Amino acid sequence: MHIGGIPVRTLVAMYGTPLYVIDEEAVRAQCRAFHRAFAATGVRYDISYASKAMCIQALCRIVAQEQLSLDVVSAGELHTALSAGVDAARIHLHGNNKSEHELYTAVRAGVGYIVVDHFDEIEALERIAASLSCTVHVMVRLTPGVVPHTHASIATGQDDSKFGFQLRGGIALEAARRIVRAPHLVLHGVHVHIGSQLMDAAPYVQAVSRIAEFVRAMDDALGVSVGHINVGGGFGIQYTHDDHPDDISDTVRALVRAAQEAFGDAMPVIGIEPGRSIVGAAGTTVYTVGAIKRIPGVRTYVTVDGGMTDNPRPALYGSTYRAALIAHDDRHSTDTEVVTIAGKCCESGDVLLRDVALPRVHVGDWIAVHDTGAYNYAMASNYNRFPRPAVVLVCGGVSGVVVVRETVEDVVRLDRMPPWL
Ligand code: LLP
Repeated sequence: MHIGGIPVRTLVAMYGTPLYVIDEEAVRAQCRAFHRAFAATGVRYDISYASKAMCIQALCRIVAQEQLSLDVVSAGELHTALSAGVDAARIHLHGNNKSEHELYTAVRAGVGYIVVDHFDEIEALERIAASLSCTVHVMVRLTPGVVPHTHASIATGQDDSKFGFQLRGGIALEAARRIVRAPHLVLHGVHVHIGSQLMDAAPYVQAVSRIAEFVRAMDDALGVSVGHINVGGGFGIQYTHDDHPDDISDTVRALVRAAQEAFGDAMPVIGIEPGRSIVGAAGTTVYTVGAIKRIPGVRTYVTVDGGMTDNPRPALYGSTYRAALIAHDDRHSTDTEVVTIAGKCCESGDVLLRDVALPRVHVGDWIAVHDTGAYNYAMASNYNRFPRPAVVLVCGGVSGVVVVRETVEDVVRLDRMPPWL
């Protein structure tokens, strides 16, 4: 098995396990696929990488080189992007509870726009912009009342959501009214994010029609129009053979067509914010098998040197993955066995893959879990005080560390001992 032209066993020998490996060409290919999909429609568009999927400096730089804008949701993500050299004007800030400090930092940095999520934030932004004698472009985030088919924890478009201004009851219209009246705010556009790991265009098409309704309502009530809409991220990827996401080009074509029908000559710029679909399939996590427990008639546990600390998604969302075995002695047995790949954290829920068929596994073999680029390193923790793995970028037969492996010293770096102990 090779990634980016390098045998996985070479990467393991160089960097150890557990190891996140990111295939740079695969990231670039996804960025280009989105560009091609929009370019084919002829509309004006803006693709932002939702950096929450994996926010490290190297990735921020790669997506910026691929002419993507960037969505950040915290001072930490903003700092990562700026320190990677991303142009502030191409960054926008999200968040359902941005602190005054985060808003101030973003405005000072000169981000392209801020997506507002609640009424107090409109006031805070107006105050900050006035204190700095500048104007701030804002998008109003709608909660469009669209219920996507995905895991409840990653659905956001439904009315019962902590995100955005509900369309229902005129709440979103009131937000737009307050923005328009604020002397230092400019209403840049309308934003929605419906959910994540969506398989087809249907929820986007529905969302576009809700946005168009809202834009008409704004025009009628406030006499304002907007030049920019953003339909968020959510483009699903194939983790296992049970996932069948539509092709990016089909989804983009359908959502653009819906916008063209809804807006006609007043077609705004269409923005999207893909995270998972940019980086998910480009990532692989490589582990070493440390223990095998065969419980006759029950289950065979293959335990690896990572787990829910580097990939909490199976435990959190019941997410499924594909895995491959790399035999230590390079000799793969032809018989397969069904095993459960468990992590080394002290809890039973720490299972990465359940009932997966692999060639006979031995201690010291390596297991590669595919499609771990999105929301794995980003959500990693130090539970049980495990140091987080390194992240390595590979491209054309060359590899380089983009996040250094943590050590046990890193794990205690922020601990302090009060004088009375
Ligand atoms: N835009 C907004 C406003 C979002 O909230 C999100 C994701 C995205 C864009 C990017 O969505 P994507 O294209 O990556 O689906 N931790 C969960 C995913 C949470 C997604 C949160 N928001 C997981 O591991 O599945």
